Amino acid sequence: VKQTPAPELIPPVLVVTTEIEASKQQAAWSAVDGHVLPHHTVIGIGSGSTVPYVVERIVAQGAEVNRSRVFIPTGFQSKELIVAANLRLGDVDQYPIIDVTIDGADEVDKDLNAIKGGGACHLREKVLAEAANTFIIVADYRKNSEYLGTNWKAGVPVEVAPFAYAKVLQNLVFMGSQKPTLRMGKAKAGPVVSDNGNFIIDAPFPTEDLKDPLKILKLIKMLTGVVEVGLFCHMAQAAYFGNVDGSLTVR
Ligand code: 5RP
Repeated sequence: VKQTPAPELIPPVLVVTTEIEASKQQAAWSAVDGHVLPHHTVIGIGSGSTVPYVVERIVAQGAEVNRSRVFIPTGFQSKELIVAANLRLGDVDQYPIIDVTIDGADEVDKDLNAIKGGGACHLREKVLAEAANTFIIVADYRKNSEYLGTNWKAGVPVEVAPFAYAKVLQNLVFMGSQKPTLRMGKAKAGPVVSDNGNFIIDAPFPTEDLKDPLKILKLIKMLTGVVEVGLFCHMAQAAYFGNVDGSLTVR
C-alpha cells in the first residue's frame, strides 16, 4: 500500500524568485532545523522578511509537535504570521521564559553584535531576545559584516517617546551621530509610529565608533526619552547567513 505523508509533513512549496530570497530561506530553514527542537514549547518569532521562512519551516515540523507549542510575536507582522499558520499565539507577559527566539537583523558583526529595528520592532524584539534561553539570528549574506555600520548605512534605530524626539535628535548629534533623522512613513505624511506608539530616529555613527557597539548603546540609552536602541550586544548565540552561492555561513 502506498503511504501518503500527512499534509502537514510536506514542506510548503515556495517559488524562490531571487538569490536574496533563497539565501534568507536557507538561513531560516537551517536555524529552525538546528535550534527549534521537539521539546521546545515556547518559541519567539521575530520580524522582517526572513522570518516568514522561519514560520514556514516550523509548520513543516508537523501539527503534532506544534500542538504543544505557543508562539510569541515581536510585533504585528509576526502575530499575523503565527495566526495565518494556525499556530497558538501567546504573549511574553504570560511566557517570560522562551525556549528559543529566532529573528532577522539589519547587520551582524564578527562578535555577533547586531543592528536591528529596520522594521521599527526592536523594543519587542529585544525583550524576546532577552527572554529566550537561545537567541538565533537569521539573515541573507548582505547582513554579514566584520563591523557594524559597514553595509548598513541607515544608522542605529532609536525608539523614542514622541514628546522627546527633537531633544533626542539634538543629543545624538552631540554624541557624534552623523545626521540622525526622524523616520518618516512611505508618503512622508508623518513619522513612522512603532507598535508601542513611539517614533523612530535613525542615527548613523562612524564605523570606527561602532567597533565598540556596547559603548554607543549605553550612551544612547542614557538619553531621556529613549525607549530602546536597536543595538543588540552579546545577545545572540549564533547567526545563520545564507550565501549567494547557496551555501550557509554559521557564526
Ligand atoms: C525589524 C528587524 C528585522 O529583523 C530586520 O529589519 C531584518 O529584516 P529582514 O529580514 O527583512 O532583512 O529588526 O525591526
